[in-house]
Amino acid sequence: MSQDFNDVQVMPEGAHENFDGEMSYGDYLGLDKILSAQYPQSSEHDEPLFIIIHQATELWMKLIIHEIAAAQKLISEDNLSPAFKMLSRVSKIQTQMIQSWSVLATMTPADYLSFRDSLGQSSGFQSYQYREIEYRLGNKNRALLKPHAHREDLRVKLEKALSDPSLYDQAILLLERRGFDIDPAIVNRDWQERHKAHASVEAAWSKIYHNTEEFWDLYELAEKLVDLEDSFQQWRFRHLKTVSRIIGHRRGTGGTAGINYLEKALQYCFFPELWDLRASL
Ligand code: HEM
Repeated sequence: MSQDFNDVQVMPEGAHENFDGEMSYGDYLGLDKILSAQYPQSSEHDEPLFIIIHQATELWMKLIIHEIAAAQKLISEDNLSPAFKMLSRVSKIQTQMIQSWSVLATMTPADYLSFRDSLGQSSGFQSYQYREIEYRLGNKNRALLKPHAHREDLRVKLEKALSDPSLYDQAILLLERRGFDIDPAIVNRDWQERHKAHASVEAAWSKIYHNTEEFWDLYELAEKLVDLEDSFQQWRFRHLKTVSRIIGHRRGTGGTAGINYLEKALQYCFFPELWDLRASL
C-alpha cells in the first residue's frame, strides 16, 4: 500500500534541507531585510496594514519604473514589440495596485485615527517613486521636487526623469521619425515642461486610428498608452475614494488640502490627444 503523505511527517522526497553555505529562498529574496522593515509608531492593530499596503505598492512601483524606463528606451530605438510586452505588464501591475484599495478599505476612520498622529508629516505625497512615474509619463511639475531637496541622491534621480523626454514624448518622436507631420515646437521643446495637446499630434494619431492596418504597431502603441492612463486614473480615483471614506475633508498629513488636492490630481491627463481624438473618429 502506498504511504499516505498526510499521515507521515516527512520531507517530500528530494527536497533540499541543508543550506549551510548555500543560498536559500529567504537569502535570495532578502526576506530578513524586507520582513524586518516595518516600524509601527504605535501599538494600534491596524498600523501594520497601513505600512504593508504602502510598502507593497512601493515594490510594485519599483517594477513599474523598471518596465517603463526600458519601454522608453526601446521606443526611442524603434523597437516596439518588446516595449509592448513591458507596457502590458505595467497594466497588469496596475490592476493589482487598484485591487489593493479594497484591502485598505477594511480600515475604518476610527482605526486610522487611532494611529494617524504618529505619522507626523509623512505622506504618499513624498513618494519619490510615484513622482518618478509621473515624470516619466509626462506630468512634469518641478515644484514637486521640493520635498526631496534634503536627499541629494533622490533629487538627482528625479531631476533626470524630469528633464528627459517622457514615455509620451518618445511616442511622439517616433511618430515624427515615421514621417508624420509633427509641429517642430513639439519635438524641439524643453522636456522639463509638460506636453500640451497639439493639433499636429492629434492629426497624426487620428490618421493612425483611421488606417489601423497600415499603422498597426503605432495603433497598438496608442492603445497600450490609453490602457496605462486608464488604469492610472482608476488608481487615483480609488485613492481619492478611500481617503474620502477614511478622513473626509481633513487636511493631509503631507500638508495639502487633502481631498481637494487629490481631485485636482485626478483631472490631469498624460496623453491628451489620445483621448481627444475619440470624439472625432
Ligand atoms: C488611510 C489611507 C490613506 C490616506 C488617508 C491617504 C491620504 C492622502 C492625502 C490626503 C494625500 C494628499 C497629500 C497630503 O497628504 O496632504 C495623499 C497623497 C498621496 N498618497 Fe495617500 N492616503 C492613504 C493611502 C495611500 C496608500 C496606500 C498609498 C500607496 C502608496 C498612497 C499614496 C499616495 C500618493 C502617491 C500620494 C501623492 C498623490 C499626488 O501627488 O498626486 N496613499 N494621500
